Amino acid sequence: MTVHFIGAGPGAADLLTLRGRDLIAACPVCLYAGSLVPEGVLAHCPKGARIVNTAPMSLDDIMSEIVTAHREGKDVARLHSGDLSIWSAMGEQLRRLRALRIPYLVTPGVPAFSAASAALEAELTLPGLAQSVVLTRTSGRASAMPKGEKLAAFAATGAVLAIHLSIHLLAKVIDELTPHYGADCPVAIVWRASWPDQRIIRATLSTLDSAVSNELERTAVILVGRTLGSEDFGESRLYAADYERRYRPRWTTPRFPEAS
Ligand SMILES: C[S@@+](CC[C@H](N)C(=O)[O-])C[C@H]1O[C@@H](n2cnc3c(N)ncnc32)[C@H](O)[C@@H]1O
Repeated sequence: MTVHFIGAGPGAADLLTLRGRDLIAACPVCLYAGSLVPEGVLAHCPKGARIVNTAPMSLDDIMSEIVTAHREGKDVARLHSGDLSIWSAMGEQLRRLRALRIPYLVTPGVPAFSAASAALEAELTLPGLAQSVVLTRTSGRASAMPKGEKLAAFAATGAVLAIHLSIHLLAKVIDELTPHYGADCPVAIVWRASWPDQRIIRATLSTLDSAVSNELERTAVILVGRTLGSEDFGESRLYAADYERRYRPRWTTPRFPEAS
């Protein structure tokens, strides 16, 4: 018996890995984390599977579901939205499973920030503008931010920020970032990236607040940085004609074309 932690992706049911799909189809028990896991993903569960929404449950209740499945020798598909490496609450579940000696495996998923970047058709790292992306959030009721992890501290580096779980604190985000990035710095907000009702707003730090005044939906990523929408960047050396690299040694192109 194994508990399979599976990243269920950002929303669109076909943004699930083939491995994730096959594991879901093979598990007689599926525990999924609330409304961010789409119905289309749950449709891969086998007929007669026990399918439980864990959103209203405590960690103890979730563990008791897993322990029951373990006793019955039934594999469990444990679904969390996006990828499991960020804000999935997987860590505390794995710790309990280790203590109980219940085996588990982890299968990655497409994170929301990737789906949001795809919706924007954006490469977040562009030569000369930004080469780092910080995945972060602001303090919430469930998790306080560690002392050094301030938006302003990340902003001081000039990296692109992908800010999660913070759309309700937009004014605070704008206030903290404007001194570092400047009022004209591009911002994009993607709500429900990859869902049928996905929405996008592009603005600058100074115009953002008025652009989103009537938004109620909380599931959004805020992207901030100079690469967003920029055409003013260098080309990467990777594809430069005179750049020698491992998979394209210079001698694979005719050295003396005039002789051929
Ligand atoms: C609990 S975190 C889960 C993050 C997830 N594990 C991931 O890999 O993206 C939930 C937050 O992720 C972001 N989020 C999740 N799905 C999203 C989507 N489809 N579009 C935009 N933001 C999303 C929002 O900031 C939301 O408040």
